[in-house]
This record gives sequence, C-alpha cells and structure tokens, in this order.
Amino acid sequence: MPISRFRFSALSLFLCAALAAPAAIAQEASSQPVSPLTSIVENWIASPHGDRTSESFVHWNDDGAVPENCATCHSGPGLMDFLGADGTMVGKVDAPAPTGSPIDCVACHNKAASELQQITFPSGEMITQADSSAICMVCHQGRTSGDTVKAAIAGTEDDAVNGDLGFLNIHYRAAAATLLGGTVRGGYQYEGKIYADRFAHVPNFATCTTCHDPHTTKTVAIDQCVACHQGVDDARAIRTTPGDLDGDGDASEGISGEIATLHDKLGAAIVLYASQVAGAEIVYDSHAYPYFFNDLNGNGTPDADEAQYPNRYQNWTPRLLRAAYNYQFVAKDPGAYAHNPRYALQLVHDSLEDLSARTEVDMSGLIRP
Ligand code: HEC
Ligand code: HEC
Ligand code: HEC
Ligand code: HEC
Ligand code: HEC
Repeated sequence: MPISRFRFSALSLFLCAALAAPAAIAQEASSQPVSPLTSIVENWIASPHGDRTSESFVHWNDDGAVPENCATCHSGPGLMDFLGADGTMVGKVDAPAPTGSPIDCVACHNKAASELQQITFPSGEMITQADSSAICMVCHQGRTSGDTVKAAIAGTEDDAVNGDLGFLNIHYRAAAATLLGGTVRGGYQYEGKIYADRFAHVPNFATCTTCHDPHTTKTVAIDQCVACHQGVDDARAIRTTPGDLDGDGDASEGISGEIATLHDKLGAAIVLYASQVAGAEIVYDSHAYPYFFNDLNGNGTPDADEAQYPNRYQNWTPRLLRAAYNYQFVAKDPGAYAHNPRYALQLVHDSLEDLSARTEVDMSGLIRP
C-alpha cells in the first residue's frame, strides 16, 4: 500500500513531537475538539503497547536493562535497534535496551519500519509482507518453531524418558506464526501430514492491520464481518468449515468452539500419557514458567507449591514433548481461530492421534480438517 507507507515517513517528524509529550497532548483533549492525532495518541496510551507498567515492559526492572535477546519485542528502542533505525546493524540488537520503554510511535513509524518487507521467523523461513503488517510480524512470531522441537528429539526413542529434554515454549501471542501456518512451521508438524499454509481468508481481512487497529490493537467491529458471516454478534461464533470436528455432536458452533474442545481433549491426553507412559503425573499452569510441572498430589490442579521452577516436569519423552509444545502453541494464541483455524485444528488433532498410539485417546468422531 504505497499511499499509507508514504504517509509513514512523512509523519516521522510530527510523531517525535507527539512522543515527547503524549500526556500533555492527551490532557489538551478535554478542553479542545479531539483531533485525529490526539485520539491516536490516547488510543495508544490505553493499549497494551503503550502500557509502560505491564509485565511485558517492567519484567527486567531489577536487572536494570532489557537484554539483547528480549529487547526487540519488549522495548521501543530495542525494536529500533533491531530494525537498524538507530544507525546500527540491521537484524541485530547491539545493546541492552532501557526497561519500562513500551512500543512507542517512533518504534513503528520510522523509515526502516515502513520499508520493512522481509521477516525471518524462528524456523529460519523468511517471508515477504510488503504492507503495514510487516512490523507486527517481527514481534508476534514466537521464539521457537516446530523445527526446534524436531532437532531436540532427533534420533531418540519416541517413548523413552530423556533427561536431556526440557519444555520448549513458543512464547506469547505468536499470531503471525499461526497465520502463516505451515509456511513458517511455528507448530510441531508430524511426519507425513500436510499442514495449512497462510490463512488467506478474504482480501479485505487477510492481514494484521485490516483486522486489528494498530493503535488500540483491538479487533475491528463485528459489523465489518457480518456481511459474510451472517447472524453472529461475536467473532467466536463464526463458522464456515463444515463437519463436527471435535465429536461433540455440534457442527454449527463457532470454529473457536471446535478448537477449544479438541484442545481440552489434548490436555487430558497429555495428563494420561504422562502418568501411563512417562511415569510421572503432569499438570499445566498457563501463567508459571515453564508451564508443565509435576502434579505431586495428583489432584489435577497446579497448586502454588507445585507451580515452581524446581518442580518443573522433567520426565519428557519425545512424544510427550511435541504434544505439549502444540498444546502451548494453541493456548498462547487466543485468536488462533481467526488467524488460521485449520492449522490450529490440524496441530491439535495430530497431537491427539500421536498420543493415541500409546494411551487410550478416543479418536472416534474426530475429523481432521
Ligand atoms: C519475537 C518477539 C519476542 C521476544 C524476542 C521476546 N518476547 Fe516476550 N513477549 C512477546 C510478546 C508478543 C508478548 C505479549 C504477551 C501478551 O500480549 O500478553 C510477550 C510477553 C512476555 C512476558 C509477559 C507475560 C505476561 O505475563 O504478561 C514476559 C515476562 C516475557 N515476554 C519475557 C520475555 C523474555 C525474558 C525474553 C527474552 C529472553 C522475551 N520475552 C523475548 C514477544 C517476544
Ligand atoms: C505497533 C506499531 C504502531 C505504533 C506503536 C503506532 N503506530 Fe501509528 N500506525 C501504525 C500502522 C501499521 C499504521 C497504518 C495503518 C494502515 O495503513 O492501515 C499507522 C497509522 C498511523 C497514522 C495515519 C493515520 C491512520 O490512522 O492510519 C498516524 C497519524 C499514526 N499512525 C500516528 C501514530 C502515533 C502518534 C503513535 C504513538 C502515539 C503511533 N502511531 C503508534 C502502527 C503503529
Ligand atoms: C516491538 C514488538 C511489537 C510490535 C512491533 C507489535 N507488537 Fe503487539 N504486542 C507486543 C507486546 C510485548 C505486547 C504485550 C504488551 C503488554 O502486555 O502490555 C503486545 C500486545 C498486542 C496485543 C494485545 C494482546 C493481549 O494480550 O491483549 C495485540 C492485539 C497486538 N499486540 C497486536 C499487534 C499488531 C496488530 C501489531 C502491528 C500493528 C503489533 N502488535 C506490533 C509486541 C509488539
Ligand atoms: C481475520 C481477522 C484477523 C487477522 C487477519 C488477524 N487477527 Fe489477531 N485476532 C483476531 C481475533 C478475532 C482475535 C480474538 C480477539 C478476542 O478474542 O478478543 C485476535 C486475537 C489476537 C491477539 C490476542 C489478543 C488477546 O486479547 O489476547 C493478538 C496478539 C493478535 N490477534 C495479533 C494479530 C497479528 C499480529 C496479526 C497478523 C499476523 C493478526 N492478529 C491477524 C482477528 C484477526
Ligand atoms: C467478504 C466476506 C468476508 C468477510 C467480510 C469476512 N469473512 Fe471471515 N470468512 C470468509 C470466508 C469465505 C471464509 C472461509 C475461508 C476459508 O475457509 O478458507 C471465512 C472464514 C472465517 C473464519 C474461520 C471459520 C471456520 O469455520 O473456519 C473466521 C474465524 C473468520 N472468517 C473471521 C472473520 C472476521 C473476524 C471478520 C471481520 C473482521 C471476517 N471474517 C470477515 C469471508 C469473509
């Protein structure tokens, strides 16, 4: 989109001023008519990207700086360093970045950001995205890929506990990895299966910034979707893929419901396999690193004394690790149903099928889309 990309660079000077005094600009709004720029600034301040108190930006306060390997995505200046917008090498963070520095206007609106067209994913795959969504894909791409898992388990017995294995984590909100699917292999893709590539959807709603406002980060209003998806008042109710994929007898629930049921089934299958094959009970905690722990009292709940790093799960087998990796991949993208529903469904379905080779998983009625 040449027009909006031109506007980016022309805006730069203006934005520096806005950045210097966002609070002052916001305050002015109460007494004067709201200009488009003022509302953009206000939207950004109220958004997760502008929330300087969020865990995403204060996590490193005790260390005094955001280290190079985190700075690209957790600091405005870190992103500029990565892009080369600060005059340093492109594609590399050269120095630790300041803490508490959210993703500000200049981080997205600079020459390097607006000219960005190629994004490398953790799998090493490079994709071309020649529009305003390229910048989103730098940060919302995750930190590992299915290839990372494949390399870790290469040449080992599927069901042998391997003390060298540890949980591998996609990281948070890797929407771009979901959207691009098999093209960038964010999920663990099983041998011999074919996976959905990029979710093409429809031309008007195929990229990050057509479905999300880049400043509020919220999704566009549902009335923009109902021309095609009639009768829905929530994106979670949208359904076009035929068939009852999760075997619950409901083939018209939103596709998000099919994913959620299969994902729950996968969670249960992981627990069963861990107990029956890996030899130690497992429990998942979505908020505590590294997410999978020993369920010491076997109550199926991550109790506070269990969800601690020293009690992390360590009885990993290759089969368990790849299923757990895919479980987390889907868990950490709450928009997977809109980003690439088939890719998410395929990963979960294939993980269930793989576990069913060694433990009782009822695959009857489950359909792979
Ligand atoms: C490729 C980009 C990327 C890199 C590199 C990255 N992160 Fe993140 N991280 C994200 C995104 C995106 C989120 C957004 C979470 C959300 O929306 O809740 C996030 C969230 C987090 C959170 C907040 C979780 C919460 O509870 O809200 C922590 C903590 C975090 N990352 C730690 C790290 C650490 C430590 C590193 C470096 C070792 C790192 N990240 C590197 C993209 C990245
Ligand atoms: C996460 C990246 C990001 C951040 C941070 C960001 N913008 Fe934007 N901004 C965009 C994108 C992407 C577009 C283009 C939207 C399009 O072309 O569809 C845009 C468009 C604009 C426009 C053009 C008008 C419009 O609404 O399309 C203005 C003005 C603007 N931004 C100002 C700002 C200001 C001021 C800030 C800080 C308060 C800011 N932006 C922060 C990504 C960002
Ligand atoms: C510099 C890295 C970076 C860029 C560029 C970026 N994001 Fe983010 N995004 C993050 C982080 C980090 C968070 C979490 C912020 C927080 O927890 O306060 C986040 C949060 C979000 C959220 C809210 C997630 C939640 O947990 O509620 C959405 C939606 C989002 N981003 C979409 C986008 C879109 C669309 C773009 C492109 C216009 C974009 N992001 C560009 C790093 C980035
Ligand atoms: C077809 C429309 C569509 C496209 C394209 C799209 N998204 Fe989303 N996204 C959604 C919907 C719908 C949700 C779920 C929102 C909810 O549940 O509140 C979502 C959720 C998210 C979330 C999590 C928000 C949260 O509340 O936790 C992030 C982050 C995100 N999207 C980023 C992106 C990025 C980055 C891209 C481009 C790679 C993208 N999205 C492309 C529709 C879309
Ligand atoms: C111009 C028509 C059109 C518009 C507008 C549209 N969609 Fe779609 N949508 C489709 C079509 C066609 C499919 C099927 C695509 C496919 O399966 O490859 C689809 C599929 C989907 C799916 C997956 C459903 C399933 O069962 O697999 C979701 C989720 C979705 N759209 C969300 C949205 C959201 C959110 C919006 C509004 C931001 C939107 N769509 C706007 C035509 C549209």
